[in-house]
Amino acid sequence: MEKNSKIYVAGHRGMVGSAIVRELKRQGYENIITRTHAELDLVNQKAVDDFFAAERPEYVFLAAAKVGGIEANASHPADFMYQNMMLEMNVINAAWRNGCKKLEFLGSSCIYPRLAPQPMPESCLLTSSLEQTNEAYALAKISGLKYCEYLNRQYGTDYISVMPTNLYGPNDNYHPTHSHVLPALIRRFHEAKENGLKEVVCWGDGSPLREFLYVDDLANLCVFLMNNYSGNETVNAGTGKELTIKELSELVAKTVGYEGRIVWDTSKPNGTPRKLLDVSKAQALGWNYRTELPDGLRLAYEDFLSNPMRAER
Ligand SMILES: NC(=O)c1ccc[n+]([C@@H]2O[C@H](COP(=O)([O-])OP(=O)(O)OC[C@H]3O[C@@H](n4cnc5c(N)ncnc54)[C@H](OP(=O)(O)O)[C@@H]3O)[C@@H](O)[C@H]2O)c1
Repeated sequence: MEKNSKIYVAGHRGMVGSAIVRELKRQGYENIITRTHAELDLVNQKAVDDFFAAERPEYVFLAAAKVGGIEANASHPADFMYQNMMLEMNVINAAWRNGCKKLEFLGSSCIYPRLAPQPMPESCLLTSSLEQTNEAYALAKISGLKYCEYLNRQYGTDYISVMPTNLYGPNDNYHPTHSHVLPALIRRFHEAKENGLKEVVCWGDGSPLREFLYVDDLANLCVFLMNNYSGNETVNAGTGKELTIKELSELVAKTVGYEGRIVWDTSKPNGTPRKLLDVSKAQALGWNYRTELPDGLRLAYEDFLSNPMRAER
């Protein structure tokens, strides 16, 4: 990308899209175009076609998606499949037809099989069955990355994809029931501190292992890949480091300043025992994460405190 290249970031008000815009600006890219969901519904093919025909962006970061937690995914699979599939096909197809030089598609580690080897290499895609709870979302994401691959194969485009692990950071979703584990813990421990609660009850026994990447580090990788990677196989984005949910809870409690007890409700399910990405491909390309979890958590908590809309998303 040249510093004045026309770059469209789809989903710029979301956690990932806003981090990509911050990173592009930090690196001196000036010609960034954006549209809110209200201005341009990416599920609407005609609207997307008209937008691309008028703007003809040279580069596209596709960070817009209908995203949700386990409950939303499990109870609304048809909506997750339709909206994500339509949005992806509309944007990628219109980008290609309007001469977009390079597109980067954002997916998620849930595209990998339920019983994938740990850590999960990019090559384990489509080797066995998906996790049932988010199968519809995963199938839509797999279709998006495969469509990029097929365009490359059939029409010689240079469209790539990146699959991040669990993310956290500014503009995260702190909704009480619809958020991911890390922002949910920030909110719960913060509220427990505010209300002087003596204990906080967490689900399971705290033993599952998880990986977390600070979203600004992901954005740095996204820009790096746009400039330095071409290929049909996706690229995993993570730290390659894991910790138990128990360790994570203790770290969040410490960051937030909650001094009460953490109680584990072992009658509740634990979830998958381990979910770690193999990040050797990104590392071999010359990229590594920068933000250690305690530092990223401090920044995320500052963002939580500074954003009065945090509970509304
Ligand atoms: N968060 C994570 O931990 C995580 C982990 C791995 C991968 N990812 C991936 O990163 C990508 C972005 O996730 P995120 O966490 O940034 O999600 P997010 O905060 O919910 O942002 C998604 C953005 O897409 C927009 N959008 C959704 N449907 C749209 C439509 N039909 N038309 C126009 N805009 C639309 C949303 O706008 P509205 O809010 O106005 O609808 C929102 O601004 C997704 O592909 C996700 O799979 C996220």
